[in-house]
Amino acid sequence: MDIAKQRAVLADSKVIHARSLEKSHKRLALLLKPGMTVLDLGCGTGAITAGIAEKVGPQGRVIGIDHNPNFINQAKLLCQHMPWVTFEVGDIYQIPYEGKFDIVTAARVLQWLSNPHAALEQMIRAAKIDGYVIALDYNHPKISWVPEPPNSMQRFYQTFLSWRDEAGMDNEIADHLAEMMKHSGLDNIVVTSQNEKTERKDEDFQTHISVWASVVASRGLQMVKDGFLTEQERTQVGEEYEKWIQEKAETQIMYLKAVEGRKTH
Ligand SMILES: C[S@@+](CC[C@H](N)C(=O)[O-])C[C@H]1O[C@@H](n2cnc3c(N)ncnc32)[C@H](O)[C@@H]1O
Repeated sequence: MDIAKQRAVLADSKVIHARSLEKSHKRLALLLKPGMTVLDLGCGTGAITAGIAEKVGPQGRVIGIDHNPNFINQAKLLCQHMPWVTFEVGDIYQIPYEGKFDIVTAARVLQWLSNPHAALEQMIRAAKIDGYVIALDYNHPKISWVPEPPNSMQRFYQTFLSWRDEAGMDNEIADHLAEMMKHSGLDNIVVTSQNEKTERKDEDFQTHISVWASVVASRGLQMVKDGFLTEQERTQVGEEYEKWIQEKAETQIMYLKAVEGRKTH
């Protein structure tokens, strides 16, 4: 298994399960119409896929694919009342469909791959002529926090980026997607800013600002195992970040872009 595949394995589904189509994949929500066929790659526990299924309705068809069988089981439970959506355990590098979907999407997935170009080719293959391919991803170095988080968190964040970089993942993929899509032959490329901003006054501030506490708790363990930080450092950053959230944190902006193209030939 390549290192990226090991490192992309997500142990904790709390963050992804709290997402929804309307809040977490806004551009896709605008493109969806009743009756469409949609493929959601790296669908996780199906939190966004459920919203897709509601939008396309029973005349539509939705398939979610993820390489994590536990997530697929959760997704099946979540959507069992909507028989027009099904889920499969599978790999984005080996999509068993050709020319079948009005929309093929991968949200926050290409950023976890060492060969996003190959995955994009598979996405394009699965789309119908005139279909859309839409990816949603971050540019991680462009994150901003006000005020600055503790030094331990700033170090952890840089280490997290190095850990990803070593596995061949593109930390700035949000800003490379348009070029990648053009290069792969998609037309009518549209880039939409989908930055995730959270402020202390927001109702769901605690959920969003705690994303990096979850990363410390889950990905942090993998990083310790891979020798990128010690368990002591991981515990320290967890505690200091938590304190910063309670006492100081005001704003966090994660830089996110939705990039779509049409398959015209
Ligand atoms: C950050 S989560 C995003 C989940 C969901 N799309 C969202 O936006 O909340 C990335 C998902 O991609 C899945 N994944 C990573 N690499 C994959 C691969 N090669 N094939 C299929 N799924 C993959 C992971 O299991 C995880 O569920």
